Amino acid sequence: MKPYVKEGMTVIDVGSAMGFFTLPAAKLVGDRGWVIAIDLQEKMIRSLQRRAQKAGLAGRIETRICSSTSLKIDDLAGGVDVALAFAVLHEMPDSATAILSIAQSLKGGGLFLMAEPTGHVSAGDFRQTSEVALQQDFEIVARPVVWHSHALVLRKGLS
Ligand SMILES: C[S@@+](CC[C@H](N)C(=O)[O-])C[C@H]1O[C@@H](n2cnc3c(N)ncnc32)[C@H](O)[C@@H]1O
Repeated sequence: MKPYVKEGMTVIDVGSAMGFFTLPAAKLVGDRGWVIAIDLQEKMIRSLQRRAQKAGLAGRIETRICSSTSLKIDDLAGGVDVALAFAVLHEMPDSATAILSIAQSLKGGGLFLMAEPTGHVSAGDFRQTSEVALQQDFEIVARPVVWHSHALVLRKGLS
């Protein structure tokens, strides 16, 4: 995340689980930034909250419990700098709706880091998911090499 997440940014971590990426993102955004961690499992969110407290980062992390069909982030529309969805889209019953919701949450020029595990998601399925994103005014800006993952960085258009 280092090349993309900067001080003062607002970041969403979709499917955060216990915060493997949320906590490092919270360090990168600094005390003027904000990270919103979203997961459907309450026990994951509770564990993330405990870990954030322990790390002294709870003050810059908001947690949300969503449903399997809605991320419940409509209130963030146009306010997010970077969205992360790591190893979660393939678990969703309707990833297209989630991608639309993520696209709406981002500012113009905002970034969407999307990664899926190669063990669970074929290259063809990942391409299909990325095509859904590309229908939402995203362009591909990087294809980072991520351990055991397909990964893309997409940038939302400015319009
Ligand atoms: C494989 S874990 C990945 C966790 C984290 N992103 C990481 O890479 O360490 C997938 C997480 O996505 C969550 N999840 C599954 N379906 C979801 C949905 N529809 N909306 C939000 N989170 C979901 C699960 O509860 C789980 O915590």
